[in-house]
Amino acid sequence: MPAELSPIDKAKFVAAKRATTFVQSGMKVGLGTGSTAAWLVQCLGEMVRDQGLRIKGVPTSSRTAQLAREVGIEVISLDEARWLDLTIDGADEFDGELNLIKGGGGALLQEKIVATASDQMVVIADISKQVETLGAFPLPIEVIPFGWQTTRTLVEEVLVGLDVMGRSSSLRMNGDAPFITDEGNHILDLHLNRIGNARQLSLVLNQIPGVVENGLFIDICDAVVIGYGDGRVEVHDINAGTQEQMRYDFVDSDNIFTEVSD
Ligand code: 5RP
Repeated sequence: MPAELSPIDKAKFVAAKRATTFVQSGMKVGLGTGSTAAWLVQCLGEMVRDQGLRIKGVPTSSRTAQLAREVGIEVISLDEARWLDLTIDGADEFDGELNLIKGGGGALLQEKIVATASDQMVVIADISKQVETLGAFPLPIEVIPFGWQTTRTLVEEVLVGLDVMGRSSSLRMNGDAPFITDEGNHILDLHLNRIGNARQLSLVLNQIPGVVENGLFIDICDAVVIGYGDGRVEVHDINAGTQEQMRYDFVDSDNIFTEVSD
């Protein structure tokens, strides 16, 4: 861990650290993608190396697969696992019902498949990801490269009849070239500003030929672990209807967060 963590990284780290308590030896665990999920993978790797944790990890991107292997987690494919006990992943936005926008890192397709194939999905996020209504974060949709401009036109047309506050979209770029997902597709980011009916939008988008999947995760997430820059963590469990709080203290001398309260 770096000597000095910014408050945002502390928030991500404590969320990831708390989420490791959902993981038990013998589990098949979906490993998310993004900076918060990377903290989780690091923490789990430490538990594998130092505490004898035995898990099989199913990564949601090539980036996560590489990191998981580097930290010593056994990596298997979803086809080998078939079904998972738990997936832990980040999010770009979550609302009070734990509906999500995901795909800021471009991995929404594998992330959605893996999360849907899990008994439980836990999101880890810093508090900035919590929103009243989804949509300020541009909604990523994965589209196949063939005819993507036609797909984009169709998407913008169907948005006319839906409860959103913007209809423009942009092709995600990687430098001068279109961003390419792990599945060889492109990402369109939809600038909707506000999504009034996320369930309807998700269904309508997935009906459009050329759209592979969208970044709305509806009724998939079971719990969110929210981290704060001062080490506080909240766990909201939508099924149990519970909210727990605790705090980790950052110990400057050895750079380790220790649990101080529950
Ligand atoms: C990747 C994702 C990420 O989980 C999401 O973008 C959050 O990333 P970060 O933890 O870096 O803020 O959906 O496709």
